[in-house]
Amino acid sequence: MKKRNNQVVFLAAAFLLMGGLFCGALADHDDDDRKYSKHHKKRYLNPVNNATYKEECGACHFAYQPELLPSGSWNKILGGLQDHFGETVKLDPASMKIIGEYLRANAAEHSSAKRAVKIMRSLGDRTPLRITETPYIREKHHEVSTNVLKRDSIGSLSNCTACHTKAETGIYDDDDVVIPR
Ligand code: HEC
Ligand code: HEC
Repeated sequence: MKKRNNQVVFLAAAFLLMGGLFCGALADHDDDDRKYSKHHKKRYLNPVNNATYKEECGACHFAYQPELLPSGSWNKILGGLQDHFGETVKLDPASMKIIGEYLRANAAEHSSAKRAVKIMRSLGDRTPLRITETPYIREKHHEVSTNVLKRDSIGSLSNCTACHTKAETGIYDDDDVVIPR
């Protein structure tokens, strides 16, 4: 009789312990989420929300989110618009000022978004003219062949929106990639 009671007590204790571990695991999860926001980490890039930038810099290609390059790169790009990858981009001084301020204020080094942090980490203090020249972005696409990039539906790796169906909203998760035929 005594022995059976002990077994019951033991089983009850075991269940309590398991319950405790289970709740502990849940609590841990919540804790991680809190840690995530405490460090101001956000998951995605902000969608472009500057009308002048979108109009002027989205005329020939997707208006890239400022968080994809450091301000040093944006300064170089804006300083070289007379020969912008073989094109001439003309901006009046007022638009130049608005676009420059928008790009610098929202550049990768000011962002806590996961991708921006990874871009900055891979760049060190380099300031390339292209997003597609940053080591992180290159590495993520090393399996995409040049034959695929040359397809009419794509053209080049610079054409983010051809494959990243949610690029406009700042989401570049691999789950949302569809490579067009
Ligand atoms: C007249 C057309 C045109 C306009 C307007 C234009 N661009 Fe471009 N841009 C290009 C071309 C062409 C490329 C090269 C694309 C390629 O290699 O496929 C390019 C490439 C880029 C790239 C590099 C993309 C990569 O490969 O990572 C950035 C960044 C960029 N442009 C920023 C801007 C900004 C900022 C503005 C506004 C001030 C702007 N562009 C306006 C034509 C334009
Ligand atoms: C030809 C289609 C294609 C184009 C164009 C393209 N990507 Fe990608 N991208 C991919 C694929 C495929 C992957 C997934 C790689 C993998 O499975 O890890 C990817 C991955 C990524 C990732 C990492 C996603 C993750 O979950 O790890 C980022 C960030 C990214 N791309 C940004 C860009 C940006 C910015 C541009 C434009 C400058 C661009 N991509 C252009 C196909 C493309």
